[in-house]
Amino acid sequence: MNAGIIGLGHYVPEKVVTNEDLEKMVDTNDEWIRTRTGIEQRRIADDSIDTSDMAYFAAVEALKDANLHAEDLDMILVATVTPDQPFPSVACRLQNRLGARKIAAMDISAACSGFMYGLATAEQFIKSGGYKNILVIGVEKLSKITNWEDRNTCVLFGDGAGAAIVGPVSEGKGILSYELGSDGSGGEHLYQDEYIIMNGREVFKFAVRQMGESAVNVIEKAGLNKEDVDYLIPHQANIRIMEAARERLGIEPEKMSKSIHKYGNTSAASIAIALSEDVKEGKIKDNDTIVLVGFGGGLTWGAVAIKWGK
Ligand code: UT7
Repeated sequence: MNAGIIGLGHYVPEKVVTNEDLEKMVDTNDEWIRTRTGIEQRRIADDSIDTSDMAYFAAVEALKDANLHAEDLDMILVATVTPDQPFPSVACRLQNRLGARKIAAMDISAACSGFMYGLATAEQFIKSGGYKNILVIGVEKLSKITNWEDRNTCVLFGDGAGAAIVGPVSEGKGILSYELGSDGSGGEHLYQDEYIIMNGREVFKFAVRQMGESAVNVIEKAGLNKEDVDYLIPHQANIRIMEAARERLGIEPEKMSKSIHKYGNTSAASIAIALSEDVKEGKIKDNDTIVLVGFGGGLTWGAVAIKWGK
C-alpha cells in the first residue's frame, strides 16, 4: 500500500510584524534582517490563539481538501515544540475538538524537522496496514518562547500551522523515500531554556551541510537522479541556507519554495505551510517529484521524496 498526501491545509495568524516594527524593539534594521535571512515580515498569534487553535484551523481545511470527515481519521500526529502545555498533547486536544473517534494521538518533538518525522511515521503505519487516514500537522507558536529583547533570535521566528492528511494512493504515487536523523551532541547550539537560545553560526553550518546531504540521500533512495526533481521545499529558516540546498541539487530558483519573506521561520510548521500554499497556487502538479527537507534543534534532520498525486 503506497502512502501519500491526499489533503492539505494551513493557517497563519492575521497579525503581521514587519522588520520595521522590530527596529522599534531591538537594535536591528530591515537591511540586516533582509540580507542575512530573507525575512521581511512574520505572523504572530495574539493571546487568544494558542498552538492547538492554529492546528485545528489547518486540520479542518486539510480534512475538507481530502473530502474526509474527522471520523475517517485513524491517527493524529502533531509535530510541535510549543504545545499549549506539556500534556495533554496538542494531538489529544485535536482528537476531541475535531470530533475524531478514540484513535491514537500523539505529539512529536523533533523541532523544525518534526513534520518530516510525522510524514515518515504516518507512511509506516499506512504501509504496514491497519491504518488508512492519518492527520499530520506541523504547528508552532514560537512567539511565546521568543525573547523579544534578543536580536539574535527574535527577528527570525513566526507562528503558524500546516496540516496534511496522509492516506493510501495509487501505485507509483506518494512517499517514495525518506531519511530521518539526529545528533544530540549538537543540542547545545539550539535549545529552549525559558526562551529560545541559539548559536546561529553553528546551526547555519550544520544546516547547509545537512540539508544538501539529506536531499541527495532521499533522491538516491528513491532510485532517482537530481535532474528528476521538479520542486524543492526546504525548511524556511534562512534564504542563504535554502539557496545552498538548492544549489547542491542544481535546480533552478523558481523550482524552490519560498515563503520565508512572509512568515519567517515557523519551525515544524514551515514545510507544511509551504507545501499547502504551493499546491493551492498550482506550483506543484500531478506526477511532479518533490523533495521536502528540514533541519532543526536536537539536532535533527529529515527529508521526504514524494511523487505528487493520488
Ligand atoms: O530552524 C532552525 C533555527 N535556526 C536557524 O536556522 C539559524 C541558522 N543561522 C542563521 O540563520 C544565521 O546564523 C543568523 C541569521 C542567525 C545570523 O546570521 P550570520 O550571518 O551568521 O550573522 P552572525 O551571527 O555572524 O552575526 C553578524 C553580526 C554580529 O555582529 P558583530 O559581532 O559582527 O559585530 C551580530 O551581533 O550581526 C549582528 N547581529 C545583528 N545585527 C542586526 C545579530 N543579529 C542581528 C540583528 N540585527 N537582528
